[in-house]
Amino acid sequence: MRPVNFGRIRARLDALAEIGPIAGGGSCRLALTDADRDGRDLVRNWMEDLGLRVDIDRIGNVTATWPADRFDPPLLIGSHIDTVATGGRNDGNLGVLAGLEVIETLIESGVSTTHPVAVAFFTDEEGSRFAPDMLGSQVFVGGMALEEALDLVAIDGARLGSELARIGYAGPGPCPAHPPHAYLELHIEQGPVLEAQGATIGVVTGVQGISWTELTITGQSNHAGTTPMALRHDAGYTAARVATFVRELATEMGPPQVATVGRIELRPNLVNVVASTATMTVDLRNTDEAELARAEAALAEAAEKVAAAEGVTVRSRRLARYAPVEFATPVVDLVERVATDQGWSVMRLPSGAGHDAQMLARVCPAGMVFVPSAGGISHNPAEHTEDADLEAGANVLLGCALELAGA
Ligand code: GLV
Ligand code: MN
Ligand code: MN
Repeated sequence: MRPVNFGRIRARLDALAEIGPIAGGGSCRLALTDADRDGRDLVRNWMEDLGLRVDIDRIGNVTATWPADRFDPPLLIGSHIDTVATGGRNDGNLGVLAGLEVIETLIESGVSTTHPVAVAFFTDEEGSRFAPDMLGSQVFVGGMALEEALDLVAIDGARLGSELARIGYAGPGPCPAHPPHAYLELHIEQGPVLEAQGATIGVVTGVQGISWTELTITGQSNHAGTTPMALRHDAGYTAARVATFVRELATEMGPPQVATVGRIELRPNLVNVVASTATMTVDLRNTDEAELARAEAALAEAAEKVAAAEGVTVRSRRLARYAPVEFATPVVDLVERVATDQGWSVMRLPSGAGHDAQMLARVCPAGMVFVPSAGGISHNPAEHTEDADLEAGANVLLGCALELAGA
């Protein structure tokens, strides 16, 4: 079996990055925007050019199957092509385009497989515009009802179902879908571990638990010059105290606990007005479910306490909650064996980022291959992985696909 043609992966990654380009060489294709539609159209054309059968389901997940006339459960390779607003070139895109390349390599090599092989891109993996993240794959596996997902409202006020129809990706395929035979995903690590360890291939053991909370703090806007400090009900100050608490909590708990306040919006957001409301998000993650629950409880308690001290109210809304996931041992072992046999230095590690694979793991054996991220930078246009590492990852994906599909 010959290796993948990396030139094709490179060319497709670059062409996709030209859609929704942003300063610094990255892309902005927030889920279900016009840019997302244009990216979808491009990748879908590539799928059709290869003679694959392209199916779109009711949440907009797109799956391309080879051979086109096979309807039995495929080995599914997937990821996403939506991005955060400050997206790099590789996050998600690599997994989809490497999956397409695996199929093109199989076709050119003239091999046949026991199971069909399919490549998918899932709707709204990032969750930046419509929370939660991994939305399309969650609906795909029956983790969220289709109607609930279609009724989600974006940070810009748009309804998900309306946006899906507007961009032409409200397909007819059923959700939940039939479980695949198995699932594989190649992704950049998005963290610094592989690079620091000098490993080319990450054998992903699972994904840490994720908890997203939105807090809405309501106080009273008032004149910044005339209101004595002791008489304020300052939503901005309270949000700042919560943000500081969250950082200190993660520091106190120590690794693997991480905590992020990524969004704070103040109203009326003016220089000389005490803020009446603050809306903020808290992202908590841990590989240990009990520790994650402990962090969530500490956050809830601290938010109430600092709000009471300031005479403001705080309302909490859960945006996403996923328990830690462990991938199927046979798939994890397979990734390690294939990478080692191909001569790469390998390292086992859990994923810090959320991935569609953690949803697919609910319904079939699933696993992931990681490649290093330069400087551990991601969700940033500066995101970079050396071509040699991308190529290594694609060849490990190919090797695993051959075994799981029964070549
Ligand atoms: C999504 O990809 C996340 O990990 O936030
Ligand atoms: Mn991703
Ligand atoms: Mn991402």
